[in-house]
Amino acid sequence: MAGDDLVFAVNGEKFEVLSVNPSTTLLEFLRSNTCFKSVKLSCGEGGCGACIVILSKYDPVLDQVEEYSINSCLTLLCSLNGCSITTSDGLGNTEKGFHPIHKRFAGFHASQCGFCTPGMCISLYSALSKAHNSQSSPDYLTALAAEKSIAGNLCRCTGYRPIADACKSFASDVDIEDLGFNSFWRKGESREEMLKKLPPYNPDKDLVTFPDFLKEKIKCQHNVLDQTRYHWSTPGSVAELQEILATTNPGKDRGLIKLVVGNTGTGYYKEEKQYGRYIDISHIPEMSMIKKDDRGIEIGAVVTISKVIDALMEENTSAYVFKKIGVHMEKVANHFIRNSGSIGGNLVMAQSKSFPSDITTLLLAADASVHMINAGRQKKLRMGEYLVSPPILDTKTVLLKVHIPRWIASSTTGLLFETYRAALRPIGSALPYINAAFLAVVSHDASSSGIIVDKCRLAFGSYGGYHSIRAREVEDFLTGKILSHSVLYEAVRLLKGIIVPSIDTSYSEYKKSLAVGFLFDFLYPLIESGSWDSEGKHIDGHVDPTICLPLLSSAQQVFESKEFHPVGEAIIKFGAEMQASGEAVYVDDIPSLPHCLHGAFIYSTKPLAWIKSVGFSGNVTPIGVLAVITFKDIPEVGQNIGYITMFGTGLLFADEVTISAGQIIALVVADTQKHADMATHLAVVEYDSRNIGTPVLSVEDAVKRSSLFEVPPEYQPEPVGDISKGMAEADRKIRSVELRLGSQYFFYMETQTALALPDEDNCLVVYSSTQAPEFTQTVIATCLGIPEHNVRVITRRVGGGFGGKAIKSMPVATACALAAKKMQRPVRIYVNRKTDMIMAGGRHPLKITYSVGFRSDGKLTALELNLLIDAGIDVDVSLVMPQNIMNSLRKYDWGALSFDIKVCKTNLPSRTSLRAPGEVQGSYIAESIIENVASSLNMDVDVVRRINLHTYESLRKFYKQAAGEPDEYTLPLLWDKLEISADFRRRAESVKEFNRCNIWRKRGISRVPIIHLVIHRPTPGKVSILNDGSVAVEVAGIEVGQGLWTKVQQMVAYGLGMIKCEGSDDLLERIRLLQTDTLSMSQSSYTAGSTTSENCCEAVRLCCGILVERLRPTMNQILENARAVTWDMLIQQANAQSVDLSARTFYKPESSSAEYLNYGVGASEVEVDLVTGRTEILRSDIIYDCGKSLNPAVDLGQVIRLILVRILDVHLMFYNRLVNWRFCLFSLRRLKERLFKESDFSCMRSTRQMKTGL
Ligand SMILES: Cc1cc2nc3c(=O)[nH]c(=O)nc-3n(C[C@H](O)[C@H](O)[C@H](O)COP(=O)(O)OP(=O)(O)OC[C@H]3O[C@@H](n4cnc5c(N)ncnc54)[C@H](O)[C@@H]3O)c2cc1C
Ligand code: FES
Ligand code: FES
Repeated sequence: MAGDDLVFAVNGEKFEVLSVNPSTTLLEFLRSNTCFKSVKLSCGEGGCGACIVILSKYDPVLDQVEEYSINSCLTLLCSLNGCSITTSDGLGNTEKGFHPIHKRFAGFHASQCGFCTPGMCISLYSALSKAHNSQSSPDYLTALAAEKSIAGNLCRCTGYRPIADACKSFASDVDIEDLGFNSFWRKGESREEMLKKLPPYNPDKDLVTFPDFLKEKIKCQHNVLDQTRYHWSTPGSVAELQEILATTNPGKDRGLIKLVVGNTGTGYYKEEKQYGRYIDISHIPEMSMIKKDDRGIEIGAVVTISKVIDALMEENTSAYVFKKIGVHMEKVANHFIRNSGSIGGNLVMAQSKSFPSDITTLLLAADASVHMINAGRQKKLRMGEYLVSPPILDTKTVLLKVHIPRWIASSTTGLLFETYRAALRPIGSALPYINAAFLAVVSHDASSSGIIVDKCRLAFGSYGGYHSIRAREVEDFLTGKILSHSVLYEAVRLLKGIIVPSIDTSYSEYKKSLAVGFLFDFLYPLIESGSWDSEGKHIDGHVDPTICLPLLSSAQQVFESKEFHPVGEAIIKFGAEMQASGEAVYVDDIPSLPHCLHGAFIYSTKPLAWIKSVGFSGNVTPIGVLAVITFKDIPEVGQNIGYITMFGTGLLFADEVTISAGQIIALVVADTQKHADMATHLAVVEYDSRNIGTPVLSVEDAVKRSSLFEVPPEYQPEPVGDISKGMAEADRKIRSVELRLGSQYFFYMETQTALALPDEDNCLVVYSSTQAPEFTQTVIATCLGIPEHNVRVITRRVGGGFGGKAIKSMPVATACALAAKKMQRPVRIYVNRKTDMIMAGGRHPLKITYSVGFRSDGKLTALELNLLIDAGIDVDVSLVMPQNIMNSLRKYDWGALSFDIKVCKTNLPSRTSLRAPGEVQGSYIAESIIENVASSLNMDVDVVRRINLHTYESLRKFYKQAAGEPDEYTLPLLWDKLEISADFRRRAESVKEFNRCNIWRKRGISRVPIIHLVIHRPTPGKVSILNDGSVAVEVAGIEVGQGLWTKVQQMVAYGLGMIKCEGSDDLLERIRLLQTDTLSMSQSSYTAGSTTSENCCEAVRLCCGILVERLRPTMNQILENARAVTWDMLIQQANAQSVDLSARTFYKPESSSAEYLNYGVGASEVEVDLVTGRTEILRSDIIYDCGKSLNPAVDLGQVIRLILVRILDVHLMFYNRLVNWRFCLFSLRRLKERLFKESDFSCMRSTRQMKTGL
């Protein structure tokens, strides 16, 4: 039977695809074959939410539409036959009007770089549509559901709060006054007024309907695609599937046939080969059913995880175990993976590929079994047997269904079931470090009044073994025992011998410690209380906090000023609605010209080696590959140069030698990005490590071998005071303490990308997602050996940079330009996430050794530092690090300060600027030392901090003229202010009380100051008034999400408004910011250092001043004959008089204002779970002196985003290293100490006077 054509709808539009490679994803199709660009590619692994869409399926029998969100980066196009897809630009757009979701995201300032925003909008839309279709309470979206709707979406800019506020503004149970700062209402307005001003949402109008043409088609087709054209089969029964498999040869073509359900498995295991045929098993009724009876629940293997959760959670009788499994499964992946990923897919990956599954652990503990079929023979295996049987993947065996037994406690026994999961993000969207599930049947022992374990099943997974296991020795040991401290101790001892991660497992000690912690958490309360509570958690002090997460609360103070209208007002970010709808154009959204080629990098996997050859596996050029570009392709007149900074240049390609892993060796150029990426997996680089020496892989080795970069004198920080004298004045000294800090990756949502178009006369236009277009232009011109005026680099906006697109974007753009020149065809590169992470380099790791002198009252007298900075292989901007570190470390009065800083050259990827480079490290070092001092004096660290805050005199000593005037030093004021506004003292006392009363959870509160040295840079700006009075503005700065365009727009409106004619007050809407173009805006430098907005604003203010002066004579002339003059009239007349209405300036900061200090104070209260190491920030308060804000909405957003990024910085870099806040591994020794001091322990507990700490 000839099958159907592939037909589906996108945003109501019909798409008929007559043939397609079956591995094509929905994302690839949408981005290359439609005009809908709101689906963004960020991770390509189902982990970030940038690509999500709404999938609607119509059931002709029930006449019902089912709707949910899925990721488009993993969903295969052929699986969507007869489906309807809705994207954010389909919800609303510039043409047909924005959707209320877009408007509210804009109004709540919830979009910064905007790369994540369309995905966020779709997640919220999905929650609204679910609420609308809910049978029980239609249109009732709770605030919790609204907030949870975006739990799987990553945002690296906003800090989430404004996004959560925008979402909650749709909730029926939200107190509108709890919503954060927005542009809809003003202070003091009533609730009714506020509600009225929110962009209205009407489900009947604002929810998308299923297209009628598809309904008709579905009613008369069988959802079977023509196999010859699509290589896609959709068997309608297990028998049919068996028939198909029977015709395949296991050794040969079976390997080229793939069973597929949601295809989410490719998020973890990248597809590196082309399959000849896909078999979509998701439509097989026997495998899609859910059956319930007294014995348990039977679930078809293709049932999605979301539907499994629903089925488990809706159970009412004897549902204890089911519900616990359901709750745990809500943390598996994210909602869109759960919506398409099947339970069977998970179990097959876990069984055959050692996938770190949560589900197998849960099912193992619950004694589930699976049914499989092979060549018509069915087999039932218990989960434990299934996991150890030979891998079924790529065999003819098919997993049919799963059976979970119903567990019921008898009247005399208790049934306990608890599940555990430790992951980077506790509520999902992160694979577990380790998981566990414990089932126990317990009863009372009449003679001892203790609890006896009648039966137990203890399952652990993801700990670094091949698959989930049962701790059988521990189970056997516990069975029949009366629980006591010695029994628990022995159980834990036995467990330590069972949970043995394989050698290459990361965090293996942590994982082992967690396993013990979980078991302890399960059993200890039974011993302590002598009773159980199966329905709730049977422990008093250790409730899983993710089950009842509180809603995010919000409190902000915003100071708006009308004095310089519209500067200082909380204007909505320029283009925010467009960013939400997904129409805002990033480099990869620029439509490809015909014959456009695509590039992907082959990078080195050796730190130091000769490169003997670069080729492909089996000497076969992979499909679609047209060229492999290496250093040999650089024109003779050009240079092998990949970046330039004030400190030097670096290579584009490795030549005969590779000098670091991650170094670019070649660029594969192919007809599609997919082919280029796949070809890099098939690349074979032959290395030779003979006669080349050993690589430098540590800072210590670099020092030993004098592999150092020389810091120019003007970048050398200066010591302060006399260190010997300072040390002599000290009552106490702490000597030679060593600290180490790690690196960090940027995780901008848009990876590095460029598009190069060859132009006439040896010219090129290069679109680059860069923070430094001008440098990029120089590098491309130098590499190609052409004048700079032949190279036009254009940057409109960047999907997050955080410093990573300042230098590291240059080699990408340069390689792209080189390929375009060589091939004389357009070439684009969109670096995939893995390559981006490997090549990016990230933050500078450090080794710090310090000696500090101080008096008995906590006053510091001297600090001596030795710093070894790991710069990696290239100089990049690493030579600014010594100054940056010292500038932030000087925030305290150290008395005297001396240091020896070495910038080490190692054979590691070169490190670059990452969000406040050096300053994060400097601040950490300072706080670490202060904590150590306080700890050694047994003093309150807050007191030590206060004592050592600068006086104005010491500030001048440490910061010289940047200290400014005495009244500009506001830090002590902020310090005191925060004490009151954050209620610091009272909370510090409650923290102490909390710690006295809790054994397993501890809290800490801390207040820290910050001083940031702002350095202005020269920058150009250009303002042009066009014939119709609209205004075009060009600035050198790049809009990376920081709101630069909005501030500039406000400044131009203010500057031109100085003409004071009719309408000049309302120019904001008539001002457009243009993309940065290096041939139009020369001397544009780079966007970095948090000063670009200010500099650009000043440049355009100067332009406006010039234009106003030029317009004034015309205005005076008009006013001689008229009583008033409108803006339009004025411009018309000025044009007629040939007044030059375009002005360019180059703002050069005066030396007196080129540098100044910026102050802030923050306090955070955190809670640590000592059993799992889980930390929670309970509250953060910040007071930041930003002077007069140009736009409080934008600045507030920047501050909030910074908190989040800094928290992540600290988490990633300094984890486990804070001085008196060390994370304790759960050791047997500690446990023993704790358990066997039981007599005084329990007595203390009863009087709520517990000891602190483990
Ligand atoms: C970003 C992300 C995060 C995740 N986080 C978690 C997590 O925290 N915890 C966790 O447990 N899991 C997690 N997962 C895994 C997720 O649960 C699985 O990807 C999903 O369940 C696989 O289902 P699928 O239908 O998409 O399988 P597919 O991708 O369609 O198939 C996976 C493999 O199994 C084979 N296969 C599928 N069904 C059968 C069958 N019935 N018989 C024989 N072979 C079959 C396929 O041929 C394929 O090789 C995560 C996945 C992603 C992408
Ligand atoms: S989830 Fe698809 S790009 Fe990240
Ligand atoms: S706005 Fe969310 S990633 Fe930039």
